[in-house]
Amino acid sequence: MSTWANLGLQDSASPLMEQLIFFHDHALLILVMITVLVGYLMFMLFFNSYINRFLLHGQLIEMIWTILPAIILLFIALPSLRLLYLLDEINEPSVTLKSIGHQWYWSYEYSDFNNVEFDSYMIPTNELANDGFRLLDVDNRIVLPMNSQIRILVTAADVIHSWTVPALGVKVDGTPGRLNQTNFFINRPGLFYGQCSEICGANHSFMPIVIESVPVNYFIKWISNNVNS
Ligand code: CUA
Repeated sequence: MSTWANLGLQDSASPLMEQLIFFHDHALLILVMITVLVGYLMFMLFFNSYINRFLLHGQLIEMIWTILPAIILLFIALPSLRLLYLLDEINEPSVTLKSIGHQWYWSYEYSDFNNVEFDSYMIPTNELANDGFRLLDVDNRIVLPMNSQIRILVTAADVIHSWTVPALGVKVDGTPGRLNQTNFFINRPGLFYGQCSEICGANHSFMPIVIESVPVNYFIKWISNNVNS
C-alpha cells in the first residue's frame, strides 16, 4: 500500500503492473531527454543576436523538427499499444469475482461457488483496531488465491464507481447497466489496498477495497467455509 513517503508507484503485485511500471519509466526517460534539449535551446536563446542577414528560410531544420518528434512519438505509441492489448487479454481465469459499486460501499459475489456474496464497508475511524489503516480497512475483505488467473467483473447499482487497485494495475469503471471485465494475476501473498476512483457522491472517499492474497489451499478452505450448502 501507499504510505506518506511513497510519491511514486506502489510495488507491483502482478505481471501487468510490472509492465505498466516499465512503460512509465520508459516514457519518463523520453520526457527527461526532451525537457533537457528544449531547456538547453531556450537557455541559448539569451545569447542570440536579433539580426541575421542571410536568414530567409530553413528547409532542413523545418524537416528535422517535424519528423523527429513524430519518430519520438512512435517510440511511445508502439509500446503503449502493446500494453493496451496485453491488459485486455483474458487467460482462462480460474476464479471470477464480481464487484458491485454502491453509494457508498462495494459488494462482492463469487459466482463460481454456491452464492458466496457479501458487502464490504470501510471501518469508521472510531471503530478502528490499533493496527488498522484509517480510511482504508474494510470489515469484509476479498480473499483471492495467488498465482492464479482471476477475472473481475465490475458493475454498479446506483451511480458510476471505479474499482481501482494500484498494486495490481487494475482500474475498471462500475457503470449501472453495464458489466465490465478485466483480469489479473497476483504473484505474491499480502494485503492490497484500493479505493473508488470515480467521483460518486458525498462519501466517494470512503469506499476502499482490500484484497487478501493467499495460497490456493487457504483460499479453498476460506471459500468452503463460506458457501451456502
Ligand atoms: Cu464510488 Cu467514488
